[in-house]
Amino acid sequence: MNPLAMRLGRQGFGAMRLRDQTGGDADRDPVSVIHAALDAGITMVDTADAYRNEELVGRAIQGRRDEVLLASKFGLVWNDEVAGGFDVRADPVYVRQASEASLRRLGVDVIDLYYLHHRSSAIPIEETVGAMAELVDQGKVRGLGLSNVSAEDLRRAHAVHPIVALQEQWSLVQRDVEQELLPAAADLGVTIVAHSPTGHGLLHLTHAAGKQVADGPRAILDKIARAHKAMAGQVALAWVQHRQHAHDLLVVPLPGTTRVSHLRSNVAAGGVCLSDDELRQLDSFRAAL
Ligand SMILES: NC(=O)c1ccc[n+]([C@@H]2O[C@H](COP(=O)([O-])OP(=O)(O)OC[C@H]3O[C@@H](n4cnc5c(N)ncnc54)[C@H](OP(=O)(O)O)[C@@H]3O)[C@@H](O)[C@H]2O)c1
Repeated sequence: MNPLAMRLGRQGFGAMRLRDQTGGDADRDPVSVIHAALDAGITMVDTADAYRNEELVGRAIQGRRDEVLLASKFGLVWNDEVAGGFDVRADPVYVRQASEASLRRLGVDVIDLYYLHHRSSAIPIEETVGAMAELVDQGKVRGLGLSNVSAEDLRRAHAVHPIVALQEQWSLVQRDVEQELLPAAADLGVTIVAHSPTGHGLLHLTHAAGKQVADGPRAILDKIARAHKAMAGQVALAWVQHRQHAHDLLVVPLPGTTRVSHLRSNVAAGGVCLSDDELRQLDSFRAAL
């Protein structure tokens, strides 16, 4: 297995929502959240230039750089003229510009895991990954990742340079990755970093608040959570963690939070051991999708 993949840990920390403005709430201090993650043994800290918080992440890991497997991404450029819209840039010139800018904002000499954030319909992935591979040769990046790509993209990219990790959404309420990407990743020995493992927080919500989830599966999730004296969100996270046994490849859940208390609760989900019968019951979510 790729040595970098072995350092990804059992759970990563997604920094996407971290901001400096927290209204003085100590539980939401972003530097404390990242420190709590490192104190709990998390190594992978995941950001992106599109999250517009690389300076903050860089500040938080200062003095603790050796403990961190730092991941960032390029390629998604917010189009401020369109609400919620973005453009994709994946040409080699942009790869070089974006990586220099991320290194500067993060305040580091090297990014451990550098992802293309989104596939481009304009630039062949071989060209993008070729430029990313040059960053590895130059010592600016340690390993390459892809996000929001197709199985064919993954195979073509991997033929140019080994891909360490594929970052895709994977949770009880979003299982598209299992159709084509997962077999390709297993075949190539690529680790899956499962982002948004609680459906962007949906599975953390109480039964009444989480009405977007069908009642039957939700009742099963709550019952299993009660049996483990755990929260529903912790069981949802544990389900993702159990995927690696189900599919025989390394799967690293990547939850995000802006709260120290939630961070600790999410880390504790790593101790929730689900039985085969419970995993079968949780498959009811698939039927409800
Ligand atoms: N590659 C991509 O395209 C992509 C896309 C989206 C996300 N990501 C990555 O995946 C990470 C996670 O994504 P995400 O934040 O959308 O999904 P998520 O981890 O499934 O959900 C986060 C939401 O759940 C809440 N939450 C977290 N822990 C909780 C707890 N213990 N109890 C109650 N609520 C809790 C958070 O609120 P609080 O802040 O209040 O805890 C937040 O609203 C991101 O940080 C990013 O690194 C990647």
